[in-house]
Amino acid sequence: MKLAGKVAVVTGGARGIGQAIVERYVAEGARVAIADLSVGQARELAEKFGDKAYGLEVNVANCASIDRMVADVVSHWGAIDILVNNAAVFDLAPIVEVTEASYDKLFAVNVKGLFFSLQAVARHMIARRQGGKIINMASQAGRRGEALVSVYCASKAAVISLTQSAGLDLIKHKINVNGIAPGVVDTPMWDDVDALFAKYEGRKPGEKKRLVGEAVPFGRMGLPEDHTGAAVFLASADADYVVAQTLNVDGGNWMS
Ligand SMILES: NC(=O)c1ccc[n+]([C@@H]2O[C@H](COP(=O)([O-])OP(=O)(O)OC[C@H]3O[C@@H](n4cnc5c(N)ncnc54)[C@H](O)[C@@H]3O)[C@@H](O)[C@H]2O)c1
Repeated sequence: MKLAGKVAVVTGGARGIGQAIVERYVAEGARVAIADLSVGQARELAEKFGDKAYGLEVNVANCASIDRMVADVVSHWGAIDILVNNAAVFDLAPIVEVTEASYDKLFAVNVKGLFFSLQAVARHMIARRQGGKIINMASQAGRRGEALVSVYCASKAAVISLTQSAGLDLIKHKINVNGIAPGVVDTPMWDDVDALFAKYEGRKPGEKKRLVGEAVPFGRMGLPEDHTGAAVFLASADADYVVAQTLNVDGGNWMS
């Protein structure tokens, strides 16, 4: 077991990719705090793992909520060794139709929420002097723009950039900050994505999802569990010398 004795926090861990990472971390010996806006779903998931997991409420767009999350996990299990900064939201629209509310929400959750979760956990790790691992969930969307997906793409480009800067700043404390860039993954988020593409590209429901899956060099859309190997690696001692990188886990969609 690669994560025996470790304590992990997975934001947005109640479903999708975060849920798969929670399940795999528990299997690898970690105790996991499932921190999510949907606290009912987080607690329901945690019940499957007995005393190896618990669910708690966080809104990462709110710094006071992040501070409560960190204090809660530290009081529950004494420390945090691993943070998976996974919570995010999606939206798309043509440039001329993007609203201020949509822009603010994407940046509040995907960028500000990720940054201040990282900062709060890093402060705890520095004070504890035992290092740690922080994994930021980026996206292939952060590697290049897309006509309809401007703001989400920009938010994920910011995640890749913050991973580089934080990785360089925190490695002196033996805190490894790295990222994972998934491609297209069959999760509840992609149901929303498909519906939005149907609206703006005049497609039938399910059509965009089928097309993006067929275009992946591997031959299909990603599944949440396709990302758990990378998430375990980056959280383990095997990744001690890996610093400020964002690893593409996307079936071959993108090379960088
Ligand atoms: N699904 C994809 O195709 C895909 C591709 C690339 C990257 N990603 C990234 O992977 C990560 C997980 O994506 P997913 O598809 O599993 O998403 P999802 O929408 O299925 O799950 C996201 C989770 O985050 C939680 N969340 C949302 N806002 C929150 C907030 N303010 N505070 C706390 N929790 C909040 C939700 O309640 C939900 O449980 C995200 O960072 C996403 O951007 C997904």
